[in-house]
Amino acid sequence: MAFNSVLVLGPTGGLGQFLVPELIRRKSNFTRIGAFIDLTRPQSAEKARLMQDSSGFQVVVACLGNHAIKNQPSLIDTALQAGVQHWYPSEFGADLTVGDNWNERYYRDKVLTREHLQKRASENPTFSYTYFLNGRFSEWAPIPHFGIDTKTHTAHIVGSPDMEQSLLGVADVAKYLVCTLLEPPTSQERIYRFLGENISWTTIFSILEKIQGVKYTATFKSVEKARENQRKAIETGNIDEELAASHQVIQGTGRTLLPGPYDNDKFPEVVPKGLEETWRAMLEETSKFLL
Ligand SMILES: NC(=O)c1ccc[n+]([C@@H]2O[C@H](COP(=O)([O-])OP(=O)(O)OC[C@H]3O[C@@H](n4cnc5c(N)ncnc54)[C@H](OP(=O)(O)O)[C@@H]3O)[C@@H](O)[C@H]2O)c1
Repeated sequence: MAFNSVLVLGPTGGLGQFLVPELIRRKSNFTRIGAFIDLTRPQSAEKARLMQDSSGFQVVVACLGNHAIKNQPSLIDTALQAGVQHWYPSEFGADLTVGDNWNERYYRDKVLTREHLQKRASENPTFSYTYFLNGRFSEWAPIPHFGIDTKTHTAHIVGSPDMEQSLLGVADVAKYLVCTLLEPPTSQERIYRFLGENISWTTIFSILEKIQGVKYTATFKSVEKARENQRKAIETGNIDEELAASHQVIQGTGRTLLPGPYDNDKFPEVVPKGLEETWRAMLEETSKFLL
């Protein structure tokens, strides 16, 4: 049975702001679409209590940000009690089983969520979940988090110019995601992998230079340097810096490249936009992105 009632957590976030309009665009396929905004952000554990109202939804798509991902186990348990049958954990990125991603700080809370989902599914034969993998959102590649400033056209990158990453535009991620909601699961755990394109920093800068008409000044530093920054961030208790450094190491060692097999062909109605088109739109209307 396909899911026709869906609840989105984090609907105003980076991904959620694209997912909700896509669900609305395809609303004829759904009987109920809910968007849950938590106005008690400082005490976000409160979300778990409020989730008791999730009864009547078959599936929850968690589009939760870095600081909220760790709350998923309690949210999952409350949703289960309320009768939710399926969970999309807040993943939407690289494959956690590639290289040493599983042990990387950046993915810690995604790993604990996976472990919790597996445990609950083993206890509840009617409960299932979907891992949705897409590499990096194209619009999240050229941002300060990875050392790129599209205003000053400068970049300080961890890794090497030829290091590739898998990119897919966030609006296309949302389109594929809604398509998967409409495909009935046949097992308790399912994984989708969607590839946009694998692209090196060299090509990334040549596309940005073409669009902006300005040459970029890029420097590249070693992953060891990023690890050193991560250690310093741990010492000073700066979690965002710690996550950023860990993420840069992942990127700098090519671990955001998404291995196949890919599921794009299952949904030919989605034709992903190319990088140049995606970035032209992003630079014309920057308000939705972290540039
Ligand atoms: N592959 C990529 O390149 C890429 C890029 C971006 C994101 N992602 C992934 O997509 C998922 C969603 O990320 P996002 O960027 O959309 O997230 P986000 O914008 O940072 O946050 C999404 C939502 O999470 C909740 N939230 C944020 N901070 C919180 C806090 N401190 N306490 C409690 N709740 C908090 C908020 O929901 P409420 O308003 O309901 O509280 C917020 O709207 C994550 O898994 C992320 O890793 C992947």
